[in-house]
Amino acid sequence: MKTVKIGLLGIGNVGSGAFQIFSLNSASIAKASGCEITVSGVLARSKNKKRDIDINPEIITDDPDEIIKNPEIDIVVEALGGIEPATTFMLSAMKNGKHVVTANKAAIAANYDKLTEAAAENGVQFKFEASVGGGIPILNAIDTVLRGNEFTEIMGIVNGTTNYILTKMAEEKLPYDVALKNAQELGFAEADPTADVEGIDVANKLTILMALAFGQYIKPENIPTTGISKITAADIEAAALKGCKIKLIAHAKMNGTSCSDCAEKGKLEYSVKPMLLPNDHPLAGVSNEFNAVFITGNAVGELMFYGRGAGAMPTGSAVVGDVIEIAKSFK
Ligand SMILES: NC(=O)c1ccc[n+]([C@@H]2O[C@H](COP(=O)([O-])OP(=O)(O)OC[C@H]3O[C@@H](n4cnc5c(N)ncnc54)[C@H](OP(=O)(O)O)[C@@H]3O)[C@@H](O)[C@H]2O)c1
Repeated sequence: MKTVKIGLLGIGNVGSGAFQIFSLNSASIAKASGCEITVSGVLARSKNKKRDIDINPEIITDDPDEIIKNPEIDIVVEALGGIEPATTFMLSAMKNGKHVVTANKAAIAANYDKLTEAAAENGVQFKFEASVGGGIPILNAIDTVLRGNEFTEIMGIVNGTTNYILTKMAEEKLPYDVALKNAQELGFAEADPTADVEGIDVANKLTILMALAFGQYIKPENIPTTGISKITAADIEAAALKGCKIKLIAHAKMNGTSCSDCAEKGKLEYSVKPMLLPNDHPLAGVSNEFNAVFITGNAVGELMFYGRGAGAMPTGSAVVGDVIEIAKSFK
């Protein structure tokens, strides 16, 4: 059986989730991929930090070149976070003939064109299922079994932090500040929650969804974006009186698909903003930290993908799935 060697950039939440899944499910992963997949190098900031996982400290390095330029490594998994140095490391890995898997929505959204072009130029695969909706298999679905469709609309709840806050505001009638504090105490929100509550994280994910579903790369800074920090308990109550819920929605709609000669035909409209959804809308029932993507294709109709949008194991599940798909080509 061929051995496929993985270099992990980062061993935090996502990196350690993927690392544990490779070990936990090694037999089924070998069966599915036809290869023995081993993690042979790990990049971290600190080599000596105490880790909660069972990992040989000798494979941890603080020198990125030991992974990116290591001729033994076949696939680089990037789980560092942030746009840089993650983008530079991914581009360099591709240049060195390595396939790349990442969970990093900020880096992909900022540099989608550079990363996809570099992968094509270097004849390597670039996969990023974990970057939108964590464990939810939405990107590969759009890119494979749904490819026969022209997509007309996407609506996504793709940020668990804000969905948790809005759920608590609605169900427990909490003011925004208290719901945010609860989310922080439970580890659902960062100490600095700006990227989540102002919709920046959701805009990154909408960029990626639109690039795949509509073939249009619209940078996150060009997406009209409103977060949830100005939503009040009174707004939530007014929505409830109308039989609605307020949800932070990543929305993209291809206009004019129902008329053949209208001027707006083929114009993509997009936004990230809190929207009022009737209680019987499938996304209105998505509560707490859960994520869901509701997508409409002209052949398949309406579909909803639902699950855990974050966390070490759900996100690791998507990362490992991408690695297995790549490893199949090594058999
Ligand atoms: N957490 C989630 O549930 C989730 C879900 C979906 C997507 N993502 C994405 O996955 C990525 C990773 O997130 P995370 O939550 O796993 O982050 P994290 O827990 O902060 O882990 C980051 C890891 O990268 C290492 N690192 C960071 N910068 C480095 C540098 N410049 N050089 C060397 N090592 C560096 C850190 O080293 P040390 O351990 O030594 O500090 C750590 O091991 C992000 O892009 C995030 O948006 C996360």
